[in-house]
Order: sequence, then structure tokens, then C-alpha cells
Amino acid sequence: MRKKIVAGNWKMNKTLHEGIELAKTINRQVEENEVIVVLCPPFIHLSGVAGIITKDSLFAGGQNCASEASGAYTGEVSAEMIRSAGADYVIIGHSERRTYFNESDEIVNKKVKLALANELTPIFCCGEVLAERQAGKHIQIVKSQVEKGLFDLSPEDFGRIVIAYEPVWAIGTGVTATAEQAQEMHKMIRDHIAEKYGNTVASNTSILYGGSCKPSNARELFLNSDVDGGLIGGASLSASDFMGIVNAILDK
Ligand code: PGA
Repeated sequence: MRKKIVAGNWKMNKTLHEGIELAKTINRQVEENEVIVVLCPPFIHLSGVAGIITKDSLFAGGQNCASEASGAYTGEVSAEMIRSAGADYVIIGHSERRTYFNESDEIVNKKVKLALANELTPIFCCGEVLAERQAGKHIQIVKSQVEKGLFDLSPEDFGRIVIAYEPVWAIGTGVTATAEQAQEMHKMIRDHIAEKYGNTVASNTSILYGGSCKPSNARELFLNSDVDGGLIGGASLSASDFMGIVNAILDK
């Protein structure tokens, strides 16, 4: 059975003190049930956030990792360091990384492998920009990102991947994909995984939706059969909004 997951991507927000307070509040409010909740704070907060977690269903994650294992890469943070800080997850290939930091599919693929080698669960992000959707190329773009980022993994390694479909035009814009648009893309991704790795691997892969997900629209998105949770940006910065989204998936 695939897991229901709600992950909060804090991006470059919150001071250390604010981040620890937010994590403490969420740790208090998370209930021990089948929903996995992941907090992805900035690196500098990671060990502090991981250290306050007491709930079995709550985990810490990085927002990125280096594409090299170690060495003279000033300012970079390796998958091994992220693991050693107490994280279990790491977001890889977020569209902001792809756009502002020129992360190619090849770089993203290297990061996925380093994450897996260090026992981190990659939350692999994919998604099209508005012009690509308007040109009718969204399916092709996302298929290609998934293939180039993930399809050289062994079936066993692929079984450890979480995918987040995040249409770039919906990220931070207040415009959400409709439930139909999300379901169409999630089903396409799952079918594509099935062609490559078979039905069992495909049906066990959690595919999250991301892009202006809020307590008010989360339930409708999550009720789709191929939407297994969310990767939440803006709404993860407020404990009440984030917990509203976490609780929305319990209705599934
Ligand atoms: P958003 O961000 O919820 O603020 O749209 C989602 C993400 O980038 O993961």
C-alpha cells in the first residue's frame, strides 16, 4: 500500500527561533495515524527541527542536497550531512532549484542517487511551466523529467522514491491545478511508472500534488485516486493551515 504524505517546504523562510517554534507546535498537533508528515526547513534549522520530533509519523527533510558526495564545494550541503542531521527525506529537483540554480535533469538524477545511497527518501519534483501547458506539451515535459531523473534506477531503488507533481504556474501563485488536471497528470505519471517498472511498483509509489495547496482546496485535490498527499509551500508556514491540510487527507 502506498503512503499518504504531507510535506511542508518552508523554502527560505523563518528564523531559527521561529522555525523551532513552528516545528514544536506541529509536533504537538500531529496525531499518530497513517499519514506521514514531513517538515523541510532550511538546512540551518534541520538538526534543531529533527531534534524536537517525538511523533512516529513526523519526519524532517532537506530542501535540496549537493550533487557531489563531499569535498571542496563551498556552501554546499551533502546528502550524508543531511542524513546525519536527523533527516529522513530530501526534496530534489524543485522547480525553483531547476530555474534559479540551473539544475538539469542530469544533476537532479545524481542527487537522487546520492540521497538513496545515504538512506534518505527523495521527494522528486516535476512539473511544467505555463507556456508548456498552453502549448499542450505538459504531459511530454513531465514524462521526460521523470524518465531522465529516475528511470535508470533499479526497481528496488525506484520503490523508495516519492514523486511530487508541481505545475510551476501553480507554485506560490494562488492558482491551483483543478482536481481534474491534477488527477490526469498523476495518473499519467503512475501509468508511465507501470510501463517501466510494472504495476506493483507503480501502485506503491506515492505521488504528491504541490502548488498553492491550502486547507480550502486540499480535500478536493486529495480525493483523486492518484493523489496521495501534498508538497506544501506557503501554507506550511502556519501551523493551523498546515495541519488543516494534513487533516484533509484523513478523509481520503
Ligand atoms: P506553494 O509551493 O504551496 O507555496 O505553491 C509549493 C512548493 O513549491 O512546493
